[in-house]
Amino acid sequence: MAILVTGAAGFIGSNFVHHWLAARPEERVVALDALTYAGNPANLADAERAPGYRFVKGDIADGDLIQRLLREESIDTIVHFAAESHVDRSIHGPAEFVQTNVVGTQVLLEAARSVWLAGSGQPHRFHHISTDEVYGSLAPDESAFSETTAYAPNSPYSASKAASDHLVRAWHHTYGLQVTTSNCSNNYGPYQFPEKLIPLVIVNILHGRELPIYGDGSNVRDWLHVADHCSGIEAVLRDGEVGGTYNIGGYGELTNLELVRTLCRVVDERFATDETLATRFPEAPAARGEAADSLMRFVTDRPGHDRRYAIDPQRITDELGWKPRFDVEQGLKDTVDWYLGNEGWWRSVMDGSYKEWLARQYG
Ligand code: NAD
Ligand code: DAU
Repeated sequence: MAILVTGAAGFIGSNFVHHWLAARPEERVVALDALTYAGNPANLADAERAPGYRFVKGDIADGDLIQRLLREESIDTIVHFAAESHVDRSIHGPAEFVQTNVVGTQVLLEAARSVWLAGSGQPHRFHHISTDEVYGSLAPDESAFSETTAYAPNSPYSASKAASDHLVRAWHHTYGLQVTTSNCSNNYGPYQFPEKLIPLVIVNILHGRELPIYGDGSNVRDWLHVADHCSGIEAVLRDGEVGGTYNIGGYGELTNLELVRTLCRVVDERFATDETLATRFPEAPAARGEAADSLMRFVTDRPGHDRRYAIDPQRITDELGWKPRFDVEQGLKDTVDWYLGNEGWWRSVMDGSYKEWLARQYG
């Protein structure tokens, strides 16, 4: 396989590149990313050692570039992560979400169609990464989302992702492009940009900053460790039904209050067992003998805030034998440890020196 990974310098894309190269160190992997605020080439530093790896800075909406890459690298598989991904940003500025998530996906599909379906056609796969948010919001007692749940996106972000899912489906039905789609729940783990809830809470505790809880904190998300997401994508690429969709979830439903309290407890436990943390992070409550949950604050709710997401991953388990390996308590502990052990990473993505480095490196 020669694989093109779009959005490879983002959170899930970079984890996927590491996952793929660990299993197939000799394979061709072309990592494409526009390096927006969310894309960080440092996430891919380890991949540079793999002989078949190449990074390309570029936009998925640049059709000529995509066609050239597909041809010159003999790409037969696209795994499409590139997107604007943060719901709050989509509420303040939806246009970029339509441009990247909808127009960008359409350009990518057209490039794949013109290269892969020209002439006799070659074996290929276009795998699209989507989200549970396309299904809308569940009531507390409703069954989890399955692959046949009707689409009901509520935010500009989820509407743009839903539109992209429909485009992928249409390029299969109309043109015969060999596609698969996976819709997954909230991911967490290494390299997640600290605007999303879990890394935001960890980093804010370490700085002694308030932990903003939208609304009453009873909204439910279904947490999936990013490593489990990557193994799910691999299973779909390997054995998934062409034209099919697969829901990937971690059986990790928590209210936001439960999640934030767990993170507070885990960070406090780490300070209790490692004295150096109080010296490294003197503003953290535990360094002053206080509990991290003293920083929790209820703030104005997100407009249109979906109450509950939950994924039923039965299809991918029954048909492809995939199961999540992480339980959420252990996954959250590992994630806290990753952020404690990678202070340089999150400081550089937050303090602007990283953007200056980017400008020097890539123009
Ligand atoms: P992210 O914001 O961390 O990364 C997105 C990456 O895409 C960044 O590196 C960015 O630079 C790149 N990008 C943006 N616009 C681009 C463009 N026009 N051309 C090329 N690259 C571009 O996002 P993430 O959390 O890693 O999400 C990856 C994918 O997974 C997205 O499609 C998202 O909708 C989906 N998803 C995410 C989650 C989650 O919990 N994070 C859950 C379900 C689905
Ligand atoms: O469900 C999958 C989706 O999960 C992905 O498609 C999105 O790309 C990803 O960003 C994520 O969306 P959420 O909106 O669920 O994630 P976020 O981390 O922004 O918020 C998680 C929950 O926490 C949500 O209910 C809003 C709440 N929240 C978030 C932030 C940033 C807070 O209460 N306070 C905060 O400061």
